[in-house]
This record gives sequence, C-alpha cells and structure tokens, in this order.
Amino acid sequence: MTVCVLHVAAEMYPLLKTGGLADVVGALPPAQMQLGTDARVVLPAFPSVVAGLTQIEHVADLGPAFGLGNVRLERGVLEPHAIVVYIVRADAFYNRPGNPYLDASHTQYADSDRRFALLGWAAARIAHGADSTWRPDVVHAHDWHAGLAPAYLRAWERTSGVRVPSVITVHNLAYQGVFPAAEFGVLQLPADFFSVDGIEFYGHLSFLKAGLFYADRITTVSPTYAREIQTRVQGAGLDGLLRTRTHDITGILNGVDKTVWNPATDTAINTQYSVEKISGKEKCKAALQERMGLARDPDALLFGVVSRLTEQKGIDLLLSALPDIVQRGGQLVVLGTGDPALENGLKYAAAANPQSVAVELGFDETLSHSIIAGSDIVMVPSRFEPCGLTQLYALAYGSLPLVHCVGGLADTVVDTSLENLADEIATGFVFEKFDRPSIVAAVRRAFALKARRPDWKAVVHRAMEQDFGWEASALRYAEVYHELTV
Ligand code: ADP
Ligand code: GLC
Repeated sequence: MTVCVLHVAAEMYPLLKTGGLADVVGALPPAQMQLGTDARVVLPAFPSVVAGLTQIEHVADLGPAFGLGNVRLERGVLEPHAIVVYIVRADAFYNRPGNPYLDASHTQYADSDRRFALLGWAAARIAHGADSTWRPDVVHAHDWHAGLAPAYLRAWERTSGVRVPSVITVHNLAYQGVFPAAEFGVLQLPADFFSVDGIEFYGHLSFLKAGLFYADRITTVSPTYAREIQTRVQGAGLDGLLRTRTHDITGILNGVDKTVWNPATDTAINTQYSVEKISGKEKCKAALQERMGLARDPDALLFGVVSRLTEQKGIDLLLSALPDIVQRGGQLVVLGTGDPALENGLKYAAAANPQSVAVELGFDETLSHSIIAGSDIVMVPSRFEPCGLTQLYALAYGSLPLVHCVGGLADTVVDTSLENLADEIATGFVFEKFDRPSIVAAVRRAFALKARRPDWKAVVHRAMEQDFGWEASALRYAEVYHELTV
C-alpha cells in the first residue's frame, strides 16, 4: 500500500529558507517519493513560495477563519522533483515583507499565533478531504509552526469520527511558539484542550506542546538529541511531557541532499572536485581567501562558519578561541546573521585582524557553498544542536568539522584522537566540554593534524566518504508511518 503523507511546515528549500528546517522539508519528500511514499507539503503562501511554484491551481475555498474573510487552498508543483505543494492563501497573514517570523525591522509579528494556527488548521482540513483528489494517511508536522495540526486532527476526530494519525518532528525544542492564554478562544479548539494535558503551558499557550501532546508519534533529528530533550537540563520545560511519551519518540538523523551539496557537481563553487580529484579544493580555498579579502596563503589553516548567529550556535565560545587561531597562523571566515551583539563581536574581530579574519553579515546561499568548499575546517561549536547540517555538508566537501559533542554533532563526527586515527575512524574534531580550554585543545588538534600531511589526507578522504544520504532517514520515517497505518 502506498502511504500518503502531508508535511506541514513554514519553510522549504529552495522556496524559502532561514535554516536547516527548510533543507529538511526540501529534501525529505523527494527521498520519500523515491521509496514509494506519496509525499506532499503544505506551506503558508509566502511571496517567495508562490513565486517558486509552477502550475498553481485553486483547490478549495476553506471559508472564513481566524478573523480572515475567505481562506483559499491552492496547489502547485515544485521542480525539479515535481513535489506537490499546497499553499494556504491568506494574504493578510502571509503576504508581507520580511521573513516568516520577523518583519522587515526584525521584530516578531504580533499575530503569529493566528498565522501559524491557520497553517495547522488548513493541514487538518486537507486531511479531512479539502482536496477531493488526494488525502493523506498521515500528517507530518514540523516544529511549533505546525504544532496545532495534531490538535485540530484530535478535535475533529471527536466530532467526525474520522481519525488521521499524525507525527511531529522536533527540529529545535528551544522554539516553542508560546502565546498569551487570552488567544485560546481564537483557535476554535474544544475548551478542554486548554489544560495541562493539552495546549496549556505555565498559564500560556504552547503550539509545540500541543503538537507533542496530540501527535501519535514524536521524532527528532538525531538519536542523541532524542535522549537529551528528555532530561531536565536540556528539556526546555517539556522534558516531563517527553518522558511520559518516551516509547513514542524516535531520533532520525537528517541527511545531505546530494543534488544540492556535492562538490563534484556544485556550480556555486570555484572549481568542482571529488575524492579522486581533490586539487579543485585548493582552488576553492584560494578563491575564498580572495573573495573575503584575506591573505592568499595556501598554508594558512582556514576555519569557516556558516550559521545563524544566536546563543545556540556558540559563537561567543568561537570568539574566545580566535586569538589561538590567529596566533598559530590560521584564518577565520564567518557568514551569518542574527543577534546584533554577536554580529558586532565578529565585526570587531575582523577589523582587528584584517588579514586573517573576515565576516560577512547576511544570508547568502552561494557564499555558504564557497565557505563549505574553501575551508579546511568548518566550526560548529553549538551549545546544543538537534542535528546540524553544516557539519554534514563539511564532511561531504572534505572540510573537517570541529564540533561540540552534543546532539547530532556527537552522532555524526568522530574526533581525531590518536586512538581514532589509529583505528581509521576519525573524521573531524570533537570537544566534550563547552569551555575555552576544550575548544582551544580541539583547535590545536586541527593544527597538529594539518602538520602531519599523510594523516590529514587520510582523514579528509574518510570524511568525504561518509554517507549521510537521505535514503536511510526516509526509510526510518517510513517505519514510523507504517506503525500508524497498519
Ligand atoms: P539551524 O537550522 O539551527 O540554523 P542547520 O545546521 O541545521 O542549523 O542548518 C543551517 C542551514 O542554513 C544550512 O543549510 C546552512 O548552510 C544555512 N545557513 C545558515 N546561515 C546562513 C547564512 N547566513 N547564509 C546562507 N546559508 C546559511
Ligand atoms: C533546527 C536545528 C538543527 C537541525 C535543523 C533541521 O533548526 O537547530 O540542528 O539540523 O533544525 O532539522
């Protein structure tokens, strides 16, 4: 039997991306289609989403909702994989400048509860037959933005007797979609859903909690993060609920979309390369040094970072290790955007070390590929990291990841200790404790390995041969759906 699944999300690469969620929602459905799952996606009709789809057609009028007149459901196609994408047309909510969460001046929208409640509600409408030609067997919600989809499905099951199972994937427990309790009436959920066994969270509404409570299964994006979020220290206030659902939680690693992230075919980088023909990587490094205004020195160990600049990402720790990198003759390139204090700290470091530190503030897909390809080392010193994708891209590009031992970083990178080097399993640099001495020790291991040419080459080679494709993950998701549909 072909399982039909509807992914519910706020972002999807290449239509709209602010982080790894978009990469996952862009890559998982095509991988599922390859395996015979009929995967579709529903997104808010943000301007770039509408602009990026072809063959858009009207599916249904969903009527008035959340104070809006008529909400329309449309359906388009995303090439090159011909993924069917539903869009929820509510221009008053979604047709705005800025990104999905912040307005043009980086302030959160005041009505995001309604904007994303509508997304979950529309997904449940599709599950209940809004498109007469297709119905999902499973609704798969991603993060808090889609957290109300499982709640609406449960609510409507009561009145209709129709049961559509749901899965929620936690990409990041730190973002919970918490709103004032006074908004509960607007959501059109049964009154008893406002409860500690429901959507209520310390006197507020939490969309993520609703998803975690009402979904039939919970997945998160790495096995280690699946364990971490069930602890008090890393459970962000939801660990109690998560522990009660421990048997329904699965950690499934993200993958690499090899149609987008492959150094042998990547047209965004200076020179394509592969394990067999690695010389192109040096050209990528030289091009990156030139592009960023750094000294053109092939021997300078080049550290790269592509990241949201938030507390999560450990940029403060990276800054604390910067003097050690520079003193040893290394260079640092950072591409990112986010917290003004971190942006300023990075800008200051670049101004103080113009030959060896370069920072580009902003979101730039092409430059992100150039940095992943041109760096010797890609740093991901996150405080916590549900999965992390840049370290996976770095492995594929033979740029050794230097990471903190948490979440998906711990599951995907093997430290270059002498033992691991001897056992031929090392793929990067992993530090255990989130403190300056630990990251500096990892930086020193990176310089030490670089000085041992044959070992360096062997580790780069091994990194490039790691296989973090989407197929294995898609198979794991298929198992989760299977349990819900037999
Ligand atoms: P997160 O989702 O927490 O931001 P991930 O490592 O899972 O972290 O995914 C981040 C994704 O966003 C990667 O594809 C990365 O290349 C991309 N990215 C992050 N910041 C930028 C930026 N400033 N410009 C371009 N791409 C970026
Ligand atoms: C989140 C996490 C990141 C993960 C991504 C995709 O944004 O912070 O670790 O890789 O989602 O699942």
